[in-house]
Amino acid sequence: MGAVVAADDARCSEIGVSMLREGGHAVDAAVATALCLGVVNPMGSGVGGGGFMVVWSADTSRTQAFDFRETAPLAASENMYEKNLDAKYKGALSMGVPGEISGLHKAWSTYRRLPWKTLFEPAIRLAKDGFVVAPYLAGKISSNADKIKKDPGLQQVFAPNGELLKAGDVCYNRMLGLTLEAVANEGPKAFYDGVIGEKLVKDVQDAGGILTMDDLRSYNVELKDAVKVDTMGHTILGMPTPSSGTLGLALVSNILESYETSNAAKGPLGLHRLIEALKHMFAVRMDLGDPDFVNISKTVADMLSPAFAKNIQQKILDNTTFPSNYYMPSWSQLQDQGTSHFCIVDGNRNAVSMTTTVNYAFGGGVLSQSTGIVLNNEMGDFSVPTEISEDSLPPSPANFIRPGKRPLSSMTPIIILKDKQLVGVVGGSGGMNIIPAVAQVFLNYFVLGMDPTDAVQSPRVYHKLIPNVVSYENWTMIDGDHIELSDDRKQFLIERGHKLEPKAGGAICQFIVQTFKKPNGHRKLSYGHQQVLRGMLTAVSDPRKDGRPAACW
Ligand SMILES: *[C@@H]1O[C@H](CO)[C@@H](O)[C@H](O)[C@H]1NC(C)=O
Ligand SMILES: *[C@@H]1O[C@H](CO)[C@@H](O)[C@H](O)[C@H]1NC(C)=O
Ligand SMILES: *[C@@H]1O[C@H](CO)[C@@H](O)[C@H](O)[C@H]1NC(C)=O
Repeated sequence: MGAVVAADDARCSEIGVSMLREGGHAVDAAVATALCLGVVNPMGSGVGGGGFMVVWSADTSRTQAFDFRETAPLAASENMYEKNLDAKYKGALSMGVPGEISGLHKAWSTYRRLPWKTLFEPAIRLAKDGFVVAPYLAGKISSNADKIKKDPGLQQVFAPNGELLKAGDVCYNRMLGLTLEAVANEGPKAFYDGVIGEKLVKDVQDAGGILTMDDLRSYNVELKDAVKVDTMGHTILGMPTPSSGTLGLALVSNILESYETSNAAKGPLGLHRLIEALKHMFAVRMDLGDPDFVNISKTVADMLSPAFAKNIQQKILDNTTFPSNYYMPSWSQLQDQGTSHFCIVDGNRNAVSMTTTVNYAFGGGVLSQSTGIVLNNEMGDFSVPTEISEDSLPPSPANFIRPGKRPLSSMTPIIILKDKQLVGVVGGSGGMNIIPAVAQVFLNYFVLGMDPTDAVQSPRVYHKLIPNVVSYENWTMIDGDHIELSDDRKQFLIERGHKLEPKAGGAICQFIVQTFKKPNGHRKLSYGHQQVLRGMLTAVSDPRKDGRPAACW
């Protein structure tokens, strides 16, 4: 049978697999994995945040997209940060209404095979009995020392004796353990209409935030059909807006496909074309926003259209790059951060691709002391009229704040099919770098034929359109391996006028592939259902972070 979990922490991969071993659905494992990550990687995600989950159901060949991104509180307004732009990113006022618990519960209600409570037990134990600080968390604690020292809640958990915790130390968050216990016993009501919610709201308001019980009571998960994109001989299934990820990936992939040769993405020239495609994509995607509030149907249709992609491809030259204004960006870029991504495939070949976040490292820098919850700073992902950003373009009106609205996101959890069979699950963390990273892993494996490990490890490039600079990876990872773009590739790009800068960082991708021994045709059973093939699963956790995948047989 075989089943795998690829998370960015080995303990959480194991916990996910323990649920699969007990007969859980991929979604049961996803709930347990996500809760674990919220405890052991509290800088990136947690029940104080939100995310996206894409679920491929092997039995029904259906893909559902659960959108539990944070929303602007009911008291929020377009000009709320006019006098203090800092508050959009720092402190309790930067917090969106958390969606994580509601999203996990909705997905579990749809697919459950194990009791809700069972899924919480491992995370509760880690929070209450303590967990060992991994090197990646230790690095984030150290680089966010000021943030932690400014907040009594963060200090209590991450610098309990006045000294910042280091790798190998044991970290306790007993209040979070009690919070998880309450939600395990009473369900999401404890959080959204009960005692946990009340404590959280009090802490947030005491810290200057505007969250109310009404906000929590009115929070709704949006359940949608996944966006489906046929490109490069594969079907990509991913999140609709307010994620710009699937649409961004679709546009980039369609641009490369429109060269009408399978070699278009190959070698240094392929890399140049990819960078150009990314620059065009970033220029277009800032017209997106929450479709419940703005009419973005034209931009969505454009980003999915092969004819639109072909049109862009004709503006890309193989011998040169162009100044930023050539790509005609209208609006300043969303520069989101943080996050965690994991992939799961269970024994029946149901799959989950989930990205979850509190936005910046440790969110807004506030930990609610009565609940142990780190507050997100997702309001930072909205555009506001008075913000002059680094790229000096105006803010995008499609992404302005409205009460109840979700901010635009770069998160790109996707599932990949070929001939209607599951062949891949991928996604990443790292804000604006996610779309370029997921595009490179996808192309490396499915188009360029690298093996799954190389597809993830291979040095990547990033671009933000403004400044007009290619960031290429040059860094030594936690395990000592060095990743650096090759000199011939650098030279090729320089010859085309790209300005290059080394970058000791980037997105973190988790990746699962399924391979079949025999070529995989359309095998229909007599009653018309597609037969679900069970091939070999290979799971990769990105070596750029200290994660490891786990499996059971
Ligand atoms: C949205 O905009 C498109 C044109 O871009 C228009 O055709 C459509 O009717 C609009 N939809 C709504 C609901 O206003
Ligand atoms: C690139 O090639 C085009 C023709 O395809 C030519 O007009 C242009 O001058 C070349 N640009 C550079 C920088 O070599
Ligand atoms: C690349 O990274 C290594 C160390 O990780 C550093 O010594 C070297 O100077 C870097 N190269 C550039 C061009 O920055």
